Amino acid sequence: MTFAIEAKGLTYSYDRKSNAVDQLSFQVKKGEVFGFLGPSGAGKSTTIKLLTRLIAPPPGKVFILGQDMSKANHSFYKRIGIAFENDVLYPTLTGYENLIFHAGLYGTGKDEVYDILKKMDLYKSKDKKAGEYSKGMKTRLVLARALVTNPEILFMDEPTSGMDPEIAAYVREVVKDMNRRGTTMFLTTHDMNEAEKLCDRIAFFNNGKIVELDTPENYKKRFGKQTVSIEQSGKKITFSKEDDLTKLTEIIKSRHFDSIHTQEASLEEIFIKVVGRGLKGES
Ligand SMILES: Nc1ncnc2c1ncn2[C@@H]1O[C@H](COP(=O)(O)OP(=O)(O)O)[C@@H](O)[C@H]1O
Ligand SMILES: [Mg+2]
Repeated sequence: MTFAIEAKGLTYSYDRKSNAVDQLSFQVKKGEVFGFLGPSGAGKSTTIKLLTRLIAPPPGKVFILGQDMSKANHSFYKRIGIAFENDVLYPTLTGYENLIFHAGLYGTGKDEVYDILKKMDLYKSKDKKAGEYSKGMKTRLVLARALVTNPEILFMDEPTSGMDPEIAAYVREVVKDMNRRGTTMFLTTHDMNEAEKLCDRIAFFNNGKIVELDTPENYKKRFGKQTVSIEQSGKKITFSKEDDLTKLTEIIKSRHFDSIHTQEASLEEIFIKVVGRGLKGES
């Protein structure tokens, strides 16, 4: 089986003292939306740079669509898209010019470029220099560029970071739509909500390492405790599955209660439990 992405023993250090990415191995299947979820400084951006060889890994191997990346030539990069928020290629060109340049290389027509600009809510700003775009607009332009080139795999570093929630939700829809049309997605995020909404599988990532890897549903099955809370005369009693539930049934039978709620742990709580730290703040 050819994986979309296969990483073997990737390691990278900026300072030769500690590893930003540490003996990292994983595989992404074709068609998956695969997410790296971790706090700031975990090594997420470094991982994307290593996978796409924006920085070359000293030890370790990367295969993308079966291609050994240490031997990939320039034309191979046509098959992959890389969306870094601060990587708008030509800041002195307008949004439109940025896209039409790529469209020319990939045989995409002018009308399609206009459609993509509209889709990414950039049509009104198409004649403004990309360097003057806001952070959210830059990210959308980078994604628009990925739409133009229609890659087999798209790498996205924190795709909706710093966007207002409405636009973020819209961008997620675009990402899902691209995935439905066959693009494998690799994304990083520190936003649990984003990971849960978008990803088929999520790697919990910390200190350059994958701590756990699973689907959102399985995380909840494996680590999430389901509880039932019952309120009786303003007092709340919480039961979990493992508890003796005789008391709970008694209360229900007596009909003397004000409310009953079931709850399951959020992925955020599970992340803290599994990784031993939260997604915000310093490590
Ligand atoms: N260009 C750089 N030079 C030195 N250290 C860096 C550089 N880029 C990142 N780092 C360090 O590497 C670690 C991982 O950073 P990064 O990959 O940017 O994490 P994330 O994207 O998860 O926030 C951090 O400790 C960060 O300070
Ligand atoms: Mg980063």
